[in-house]
Amino acid sequence: MRAAVILPLLGALWVGPRLEEEPTAAVGKAAAESCADCHAVIHDEWRGTRHASAFTDPVYQSALRGLEAPERCHGCHAPVPVLARFGRPPRVRSEDLHHGITCASCHETRRGIAGPFGAATPAHASEAHPAFTEKGSVHLCSSCHDLRIGPVLPLGRDFRDAELAERGKSCVGCHMPSVRRSIAADPRTGAPTGPERRGRSHALRGPSEPEFAASAFKLVARPDGDRVELAVGNRAGHRVPGLETRSFRFEIVQRSSDGAEIARDAVTFDAENPLRAAETRKFRFPKSSRAVRVEIVGSHVHGNAAPMIFQRVEQAFDDR
Ligand code: HEC
Ligand code: HEC
Ligand code: HEC
Ligand code: HEC
Ligand code: HEC
Repeated sequence: MRAAVILPLLGALWVGPRLEEEPTAAVGKAAAESCADCHAVIHDEWRGTRHASAFTDPVYQSALRGLEAPERCHGCHAPVPVLARFGRPPRVRSEDLHHGITCASCHETRRGIAGPFGAATPAHASEAHPAFTEKGSVHLCSSCHDLRIGPVLPLGRDFRDAELAERGKSCVGCHMPSVRRSIAADPRTGAPTGPERRGRSHALRGPSEPEFAASAFKLVARPDGDRVELAVGNRAGHRVPGLETRSFRFEIVQRSSDGAEIARDAVTFDAENPLRAAETRKFRFPKSSRAVRVEIVGSHVHGNAAPMIFQRVEQAFDDR
């Protein structure tokens, strides 16, 4: 069914089918294994994501230590099906918390399984749901990615404020690559149990993938008199970085014609000083007269881990 969706803030009302109660066990198991029999490929993709490890994640577990009411935190890290109480903050389930954010967390409703197609199957009741069918809908993701809590920053709000949906963007469009394939297989034979469909990889892309981290930035360095100007543009769908414990750093190295380093400067983006959605920020550094090119080295820091270099670009000063 088509339903108008207005969900400006977490806690606002879902204007559409009302699914107030928890699922009545059409499928009913938190464990993703109950889906893996027939959706093995998707299950394999999901298993390696931070959603799958959202509860067992050591960083999360250590953040809970000493908290008086850690249950308050679990709602987004080990939730009951989000669509069963859509528009309200996710609630923690009563068992199997270590399974994290499972298939059921995103797909189960009181009536069965919700998805983008409404493909009938004897395996389970299926329905097309606006959370998946509305073009560019970000409400499912925003159920959890919209608040400032713990180290979490409100990326859903950034996305809305920058009006990126109006420009054809969506969380899924950037984080779940488009694929064409059959979506289920017979558990005994492995043969596809349906036509090929245009769907999405569940291997969530994130900043630990160098190429993906690099796609967040547009970097342009150019000489400007006795200065080097560096412009850093944000091409992600929200502020960068999106988590308090992370930062991005760019080193700008000026080199002479024989490759020797002449000068080195750096800029850092972190939670206190993020690059906002759709922002381009310019930095200027003194330029050495001997410099013929700059090298820009981007690295990503996550907590106490060693920095990961995700990008190296060279730009020649050929318009001197
Ligand atoms: C409204 C949903 C929600 C609630 C409630 C919530 N979190 Fe989270 N948490 C998230 C999301 C979403 C992320 C991922 C954010 C990102 O990567 O930008 C996250 C990530 C984290 C991380 C980072 C993990 C890492 O590997 O870096 C920690 C730590 C964390 N949360 C701790 C907490 C604590 C402590 C609480 C309770 C005070 C809490 N969370 C409550 C949604 C929530
Ligand atoms: C016995 C096999 C089987 C099991 C178990 C199973 N599915 Fe399915 N599922 C299917 C088949 C078959 C289809 C339809 C395939 C098609 O028509 O392309 C399907 C379709 C779907 C769809 C697409 C819905 C739509 O039409 O938009 C989703 C989402 C889905 N399943 C999720 C799940 C989840 C989550 C679980 C576990 C809670 C699960 N499935 C368990 C066989 C299964
Ligand atoms: C039930 C709550 C919930 C929902 C719904 C949800 N997320 Fe998350 N997401 C989280 C939490 C919690 C984490 C962090 C887990 C951790 O690292 O401890 C996370 C992590 C991520 C990350 C990982 C970033 C990294 O560091 O690699 C991405 C990307 C992401 N989510 C995107 C999405 C997208 C896209 C959607 C919608 C299709 C979505 N999320 C829906 C709770 C949720
Ligand atoms: C964080 C939320 C989230 C989780 C967790 C999740 N899915 Fe999905 N799933 C989605 C979204 C969003 C789409 C629709 C993508 C689109 O087409 O726009 C989708 C689509 C699907 C489809 C339809 C085919 C396709 O590729 O679009 C199937 C089948 C499916 N998921 C099964 C699963 C199974 C099985 C699991 C667990 C192993 C799972 N999903 C976990 C969000 C999720
Ligand atoms: C135009 C593409 C694009 C869109 C749209 C987009 N993202 Fe991202 N996202 C990225 C890129 C690139 C990164 C890597 C940079 C970073 O980590 O900040 C990223 C990072 C993240 C992270 C990790 C944050 C961190 O700093 O660790 C989360 C979580 C996330 N996105 C969730 C979402 C959600 C939820 C939405 C929708 C409200 C969304 N994204 C929309 C491209 C996009």
